[in-house]
Amino acid sequence: MRNIVAIKSIDDFTRYVNQSGVSLPFDEEVKSGPDSPLARPYALADRVIGNRFAILPMEGWDSATDGRPTELTRRRWQRFGLSGAKLIFGGEAAAVRPDGRGSPNQLMIREETAGDIAEMRELLVRTHEEHFGSSDDLLVGLQLTHSGRVSKPHDMKHPEPVILYHHPLLDRRSGVTGDTLVMTDDEIARLIEDFVKAARLAQRAGFDFVDVKHCHGYLGHEFLSAVERPGRYGGSLENRTRFLREIVAGIRAEAPGLDIAVRFSAFDFLPFQRGADGRGEPSEFSGERYPYAFGGDGNGLGIDLTEPLAFLDLLLELDIKLVCISAGSAYNAHILRPYFSSPLDGYRPPEDPLIGVSRLISVTAELKRRRPELAYVGSGYSYLQQWLPNVAQKVISCGMADFVGMGRMALCYPDIIADMLAGRTLKYQMICRTCGDCITAPRHGMVSGCYALDDFYRNRSEFQKLRELKRKR
Ligand SMILES: Cc1cc2nc3c(=O)[nH]c(=O)nc-3n(C[C@H](O)[C@H](O)[C@H](O)COP(=O)(O)O)c2cc1C
Ligand code: SF4
Repeated sequence: MRNIVAIKSIDDFTRYVNQSGVSLPFDEEVKSGPDSPLARPYALADRVIGNRFAILPMEGWDSATDGRPTELTRRRWQRFGLSGAKLIFGGEAAAVRPDGRGSPNQLMIREETAGDIAEMRELLVRTHEEHFGSSDDLLVGLQLTHSGRVSKPHDMKHPEPVILYHHPLLDRRSGVTGDTLVMTDDEIARLIEDFVKAARLAQRAGFDFVDVKHCHGYLGHEFLSAVERPGRYGGSLENRTRFLREIVAGIRAEAPGLDIAVRFSAFDFLPFQRGADGRGEPSEFSGERYPYAFGGDGNGLGIDLTEPLAFLDLLLELDIKLVCISAGSAYNAHILRPYFSSPLDGYRPPEDPLIGVSRLISVTAELKRRRPELAYVGSGYSYLQQWLPNVAQKVISCGMADFVGMGRMALCYPDIIADMLAGRTLKYQMICRTCGDCITAPRHGMVSGCYALDDFYRNRSEFQKLRELKRKR
């Protein structure tokens, strides 16, 4: 497997793509200024979004334990504002109530914290205006979530899972014990009220939209695979999407005028684990069909878009216009977040990361081709590194997505977007190397951040701790 860092010319990149056997669109030359397809505004209903870059939601495990943002959270949002992206797709996952936090330091939107979150949004918008003149064409959303199976609201070492069904492979890995209760339908109805209340607060805080998170193994995503759950919220696709439909109905009634978006994992695979050689390998599953992968073809490693397309039909019926396509979960991170180096406690990628990037791009393109009425944000581009602009430009000019979502790259080099659009030479030393430090740190109880390239984090004490952990590896 080649490291993309070493690829210095477009000819070499072309060879690498061909040798990898993937279908990846890219332009040999990148345009800038108004001629760039990436600079083209996008009309979304009655709003205009100023360009084709979106910042993907990224939490920092750095809020106060009462859910308020801290200086670190504000810094991240401020940097999103100065990136030049005109769509902020959710900022980061904000829990709608305390038991739904993935860590004791997750942002949480409640009556007591909404004022601070409003100020943080304002800081992002002001920063954007200072750098780019106007925020009239900037759209800012807030991602709402409950962490479900991966909830750890009190202690990172102490999982407190909230589940919708028993999963034969994930129960053990997510700390589910004999005492863990499966959420009842009544409890789900109360959680829906919490989502609606959170959306009302987000509207009051000035957000243009909320993203009702349905990805990465968190609770919203678990509904989509609750095929064996009895009752109103499991079994048929209609039942598995009732959670979303009831949240949307509540938001329409109680926060009229607030737009709704959905980020969802359009496909999923079996959970992976570290194999004997450190590379990821799929967990063994003895059943004939693996039914717990939404968007999966039943064998645990293939894709079937029949249900994701039906899900998009539902979004259209619900008058939802904006979607962000992602995949998988933390249990198969290489399909969600293609990387070259694994986080310390993860596994080495079982495939060339370019395959993961290409898979996300082609699934997004296929969904957009089949349901062109929606606006699509794509994910998983950071592994492309210095070749990201070439691929991003082609994807947008061919209509394979409407927005290029920026994840890890926006943590280490947020203004890569402004640099690309202005045609400035990229700051090579700031480009994300997908080293995994921003994920390793929170898994070991530290705040997230780009410890590899951002001096702000390299000067913090956690940086030394991270080095120590790596030495002991
Ligand atoms: C530090 C970190 C925090 C993240 N937090 C969130 C989150 O709060 N919500 C979410 O939907 N995805 C989250 N993600 C996933 C990213 O939004 C994105 O899908 C992923 O990193 C792949 O995109 P990339 O290749 O540009 O990094 C996070 C990723 C990272 C690295
Ligand atoms: S720590 Fe920095 S360079 Fe490493 S993956 Fe995260 S953002 Fe990229």
